[in-house]
Amino acid sequence: MLEKLQPQPIDPILSLVDIVRADARAEKVDLGVGVYIDESGRTPIMAAVKAAERELLETQESKVYLGSFGDVRSTELIVQLVLGEGLCRTLGGRVRGLQAAGGVAALRLGAELIARAGAPPIVLGRPTWAIHDTIMMAGGAQVRWVEYFDPRRQAVDFDATVDALKSAPSGTPFLVHASCHNPTGADSSPAQWRELAGIVSARGLVPFVDAAYLGLGDGIDADAAGLRLMLEAAPDALVAVSGSKSFGLYRERVGALFILGRTAEVTNVAMTNATAIARTLYSVPPDHGAAIVRLVLEREDLRASWLRELDAMRLRLNAIRADFAARAERAGLPLAPVRDHRGMFSLLPLTPEQVRALRADRAIYMPESGRVNLAALHPERAQYVVDALAAAMGGGR
Ligand code: LMR
Repeated sequence: MLEKLQPQPIDPILSLVDIVRADARAEKVDLGVGVYIDESGRTPIMAAVKAAERELLETQESKVYLGSFGDVRSTELIVQLVLGEGLCRTLGGRVRGLQAAGGVAALRLGAELIARAGAPPIVLGRPTWAIHDTIMMAGGAQVRWVEYFDPRRQAVDFDATVDALKSAPSGTPFLVHASCHNPTGADSSPAQWRELAGIVSARGLVPFVDAAYLGLGDGIDADAAGLRLMLEAAPDALVAVSGSKSFGLYRERVGALFILGRTAEVTNVAMTNATAIARTLYSVPPDHGAAIVRLVLEREDLRASWLRELDAMRLRLNAIRADFAARAERAGLPLAPVRDHRGMFSLLPLTPEQVRALRADRAIYMPESGRVNLAALHPERAQYVVDALAAAMGGGR
């Protein structure tokens, strides 16, 4: 039986972890997988997370199943954080959250809901996170691509997005990044979000928001502002939230799917579908990370500590961007927009051949798309990277 299986392509992002580890060169710079890296080169456990873990160790008395919904209080707190109190009140019973095994599982549950509902193909903006389309198709949804990014301006190609959405049939789902677009770092402006919300409402479209980097752009409320506009405008919507980056809980698989229906009854029926799908994927979601998030959001002191640390991470990211853009400008590289991008990533205008040459000749690692994780760009290594890019792109002075 097994010999009939065909080999699968390696994962474009996760495969880098092993490749980088195997490179012993001292000058190695790893701008690959999207995890936050601090000044000392580590991906730290946030102080509030560590405190919550200590408390769990002391107080948790059982590991018994929590049921299909996982840690209900944790998810409620995530919903309140992401939507804000006002929108939670406005939407009332129309919106409910379901704990999921990380952002990927939340996306996969949403994809299966889309397929079960017989919706038109989901619109994905190109480029997007390397496995968005794979997850959608694994869940049975069909995919339609539109161009999201103008590589020349290194900015959102808003007209292309608007044209595609204006001609999409009613009930068309479309995937939208809440903030800190992965892989481009280019987000819509507040005015563009408002225009998108108008189209969603006029055409009865179904936003499927991927919120994986909240707090790492301009702060939680600013990063969630577009998402909130979408949910105010939409008849139906889905939101996949990940706790990996905002809480640094990558391996704990913290996530939630929010379901917004036209009525509370529609939402409740959709929830029975989502829990039925989850039952066959992972049965019940993992608890440790969700319990940590519950404590962090519930306790005023832990919440304040978490928000302070998240703010520091975001400010550091933006400082790295400014420093990199200035060095690139001095080297004559056309990378000024990196300064205004948000989150961990920017997409550099490199070919896969150039990316492979940077790996082989300079020990600089990134996915073949040319996406760089700026959190990993230590100021002391920034000039080395800029010089290597100038040589690779042939545009330096
Ligand atoms: C990334 O985009 O690098 C991260 O989200 C890790 C992953 O799972 O791809």
